[in-house]
Amino acid sequence: MAYIITFANQKGGVGKTTSAVNVAACIACRGKRVLLVDMDPQGNTTSGIGIGKRDLKHTMYEVLLGQCTAADAIVETKHENLSVLPSNINLAASEFDLVDMPERQWHFKKALAPILDRFDIVIVDCPPSLGLLTINSLAASNGVIIPMQCEFFALEGLSQLMLTIRKIKQLYNRQLEITGILLTMYNPRLNLTNQIVGELKKYYADKLFRTPIPRNVKLSEAPSFGEPIIYHDKNSKGAQCYFEVADEVLSRV
Ligand SMILES: Nc1ncnc2c1ncn2[C@@H]1O[C@H](COP(=O)(O)OP(=O)(O)OP(=O)(O)O)[C@@H](O)[C@H]1O
Ligand SMILES: [Mg+2]
Repeated sequence: MAYIITFANQKGGVGKTTSAVNVAACIACRGKRVLLVDMDPQGNTTSGIGIGKRDLKHTMYEVLLGQCTAADAIVETKHENLSVLPSNINLAASEFDLVDMPERQWHFKKALAPILDRFDIVIVDCPPSLGLLTINSLAASNGVIIPMQCEFFALEGLSQLMLTIRKIKQLYNRQLEITGILLTMYNPRLNLTNQIVGELKKYYADKLFRTPIPRNVKLSEAPSFGEPIIYHDKNSKGAQCYFEVADEVLSRV
């Protein structure tokens, strides 16, 4: 039975997609069977892994609305052990279409159930909101990873996200755990970074991943080649750090 991890943060541009794609690729490279789910209508995970967004036969939209099965929508990547449930802008309509449906928070969990034994780890990339797509992901997950940048507003966003996670845990999913908080675009030479890390250590010391992800230009280039960093430039700092984080994830789940 696969272990399901959601990458969530309602703040935009904090490295959710970059982290989901690269952690998924590193874990697949370690020999685990990985399913990477694009739960964001922006479809950045889909294009970032090299899948054309326009010519998809099935997407997460049809999966969530029950118009096809998850098995129908899975796309195999050229990398061993790495499969994708892709998305494109069609998924934007799902928030609206799901809202009046019964059991609207359970659609993802139900859709995933029949294929869970085909994978060891499922990694879900969420949109920058706490809407129904993120709620569906969290309701189905065993763990959540919170990528965050060391900026002042990030701490405010984190409190809101923690409240949401607590609510989901109480209402829908008692087993949901915080797998970890991942610092992204990290620059230890900035005073603000160190202050924020200090604050995070006060409250979440056991949740912070040991390895932060530095700002690394290779990481921002890789999606335009449709490649995870370990296939784009495996000697880059970004590749090394995501391998370390992936190993930490495996040791925590
Ligand atoms: N460690 C890094 N070093 C350099 N650039 C990075 C790094 N991590 C992410 N980026 C870049 O920052 C931008 C935002 O990253 P990303 O798309 O992963 O964030 P996101 O949280 O998924 O955004 P959204 O909320 O829109 O889904 C992208 O252009 C990405 O290439
Ligand atoms: Mg994203």
